[in-house]
Amino acid sequence: MKKVGILVGREKTFPVSMIEKINKRGGGEVGAEFVKIGGVRHDGLKEYDLIIDRISHEVPFYRAFLKRAALEGTIVVNNPFWWSADDKFFNYSLAAKLAVAVPRTALLPQKDYIEGITGESLRNLEFPLDWEGIADYVGFPAIIKPFDGGGWKNVSRVNSLEELWQVYDTTGTLCMTLQEMIDFDQFVRCYCVGQDEVMIMPYDPRKPYLSGEQYIHDPGYLAPELAERVGRDVRTLCRALGYDLNTVEFAIKDGIPYAIDFMNPAPDAEIASVGQFYHDWVTGAVTDLVFKRLAEPQAQVRYRWDAMLNPRPLAESTQEALAAAATGLQQGLESVLPQSVRDVPAEIAATVSGLVNEAKNVVSDIIESVASTTQPESAKSKGLRATPNGKTKAPSKKSATPRAKKPASEA
Ligand SMILES: Nc1ncnc2c1ncn2[C@@H]1O[C@H](COP(=O)(O)OP(=O)(O)O)[C@@H](O)[C@H]1O
Ligand SMILES: [Mg+2]
Repeated sequence: MKKVGILVGREKTFPVSMIEKINKRGGGEVGAEFVKIGGVRHDGLKEYDLIIDRISHEVPFYRAFLKRAALEGTIVVNNPFWWSADDKFFNYSLAAKLAVAVPRTALLPQKDYIEGITGESLRNLEFPLDWEGIADYVGFPAIIKPFDGGGWKNVSRVNSLEELWQVYDTTGTLCMTLQEMIDFDQFVRCYCVGQDEVMIMPYDPRKPYLSGEQYIHDPGYLAPELAERVGRDVRTLCRALGYDLNTVEFAIKDGIPYAIDFMNPAPDAEIASVGQFYHDWVTGAVTDLVFKRLAEPQAQVRYRWDAMLNPRPLAESTQEALAAAATGLQQGLESVLPQSVRDVPAEIAATVSGLVNEAKNVVSDIIESVASTTQPESAKSKGLRATPNGKTKAPSKKSATPRAKKPASEA
């Protein structure tokens, strides 16, 4: 019997519906339950064939457990490695390269830093920051929000440099982005399941968050051409990012759908919030995905280390292991980008394949670094000495903040 585990936070109806649907369809051959874990052994056996993760972004213990489960062959929705590495600012930049419209966005140095980081630690930061240049690029009104956030936390509208500085001064150690505000005519939030199934949901963000009034059931809300473009953009983004469950939000202005939030790997699916119709749709689509993933052959290379975990003795030759790593990486690159640009115009696709080629050049650098770790011990320790062990020098007591902060005189 195949086992599916659900890892959840406070949500109620999504996990219950998922467990019910999977158990019903599983007919005794596939069963679903809440994951139960305590201390995790590094050499534990595979317990779940697939885990649906709804909460590891808030519980590091769960994230660490999931990475290890993936190593044992558990399919994890969503990929805990990419979720850990991902951020919204990278995603806006990637989207633009994939011909998906995004608001003009700039990344800002943090206001404050963790204890021990001082002015000396931050010598690479430009000072004073060119606030006018950033504001000219983004324009006002603008939205200031974390580069890696969720749940509408720390998202503010600012109408002037003064307001921007006022909000910025409250952001502490959060890394923020400043983004063009889209004064939208329409707004949609789209589920995407299995990087393919899309449900476009008219959504009114001006209604209270999680109030149950935000989601509207209106299949004709977008004109057909716009709906087609939105669906295509959703698939492009989710394939590029590799998320099997995600929502993509668009603010639509003058017929252009601007993607404004598409890093939601544990999207809201509660009946009280999204309503019965969308809840049923998403739990049905995720159930389909679970059975599809469980039936697929597992040979696909999904992680770089997969290529090195060969059932044959690994050390047959260093060359072979390196070749495997290189192939895995190249396959990864090929499967991520070209697949995601299948539907975009030819000239854009050409730009993207240029990018893929650039990325492939990086492969050789990575192989070199892998090679250095497989060198004899003497060579290795020499290499290590050349690179200090990652720790910075003991910091001085000088304050770090002035480097990122607008001096009072700039106001
Ligand atoms: N650039 C923008 N233009 C217009 N509205 C925005 C923009 N960015 C965010 N918002 C509004 O703020 C809400 C929360 O921002 P979002 O980027 O979705 O962050 P979170 O990940 O916290 O949900 C959005 O649903 C939208 O209503
Ligand atoms: Mg959002």
